[in-house]
Amino acid sequence: MSDLKKIKDKFLLKLKNQLNLSEINQIKSDLFGKNGIVTLQFKKIRSIPETERKKFASDLNIIKDQLQDLINLKINKIENTEINKKLKKEKIDITLPERPFTKGKIHPVSQTIDEISSIFSEIGFSVEEGPDVENEYNNFTALNTPDNHPARDMHDTFYLDEKKEKLLRTHTSPVQIRTMLKDKPPFKIIAPGRTYRSDSDQTHSPMFHQVEGLHIDKDINMGHLKGCLNYFIKEFFEVDSIKMRFRPSHFPFTEPSAEVDIGYKIKDGKIIIGEGDKWLEILGCGMVHPNVLKNVKVDPSKFQGYAFGIGIDRLAMLKYGINDLRSFFDCDYRWLNHFGFDPLDVPTNYRGLSR
Ligand code: DAH
Repeated sequence: MSDLKKIKDKFLLKLKNQLNLSEINQIKSDLFGKNGIVTLQFKKIRSIPETERKKFASDLNIIKDQLQDLINLKINKIENTEINKKLKKEKIDITLPERPFTKGKIHPVSQTIDEISSIFSEIGFSVEEGPDVENEYNNFTALNTPDNHPARDMHDTFYLDEKKEKLLRTHTSPVQIRTMLKDKPPFKIIAPGRTYRSDSDQTHSPMFHQVEGLHIDKDINMGHLKGCLNYFIKEFFEVDSIKMRFRPSHFPFTEPSAEVDIGYKIKDGKIIIGEGDKWLEILGCGMVHPNVLKNVKVDPSKFQGYAFGIGIDRLAMLKYGINDLRSFFDCDYRWLNHFGFDPLDVPTNYRGLSR
């Protein structure tokens, strides 16, 4: 029997056995690998006398094809059974009931921030952001706050290092500094965000929210400030007229400074904004102090303007009838379900701006 026939018979016999994938692959490499039996036969062709060479080569090719086909067939068969086994195991039971679908709610503070941003964007303010962890310079010094000012006290401010260089911002006013340092005037921005003070009772929480406003340009005066705030309060509370008063106050970063109260009354246990003879303080404001402008390289003889800081949580409580500030931060799912907003509910004064 010729060598080729012996090889063929030997391997056909081997391949008749029940083999697993690695055994078949072993046979494949024994036959066709770099030094495989069939590979070596091909290498031999050149040394075979010319008269027999053609036949040898043709026989060899036939045997190679036969063995290769058989091996491929066996591999395919094994792979197919594997896939079918897997498919059977992974069968989806479409008779199972679907999982319950729960839709989240928008927190009243987020909703209020969206409403505020939308109202101010209507009159040309853009939205800026600053980090919660601030440096002492942006939070106090650049805002003309003297070293001995009570706001710098450890009892009021959360400092993050012994040297009192890093702190949790006590107000959103440092965003004024950041904005003016990175650009050239004019500026017309609001900056909503989280703020922190060492304080906690029914109306104070150590973390709360403010929105800062800043408008710097040529010839901006207190009349502009009053008009802007009047417009904002009416839009926010969705009323046609309001009672508003400016009470002289003091902030190191504004001169003159004022606190703004709005008139309200209580009717049937509900608060009515814009009527009545009671007053409620809702924000601080003033004309930006020339020292602040100098600190950010804006020439106060050419540019001036106003700034304001509003407590967001207080506004949300007033508008949505929530009476304990701390409930905002309790993370009580039932509370959120009651006071929260449907993501698809568009507030009446929403004009398309998203935070
Ligand atoms: N930063 C002040 C505070 O937290 C609020 C404030 C008052 C901001 C007057 C201002 C302003 O921009 O002009 O109490």
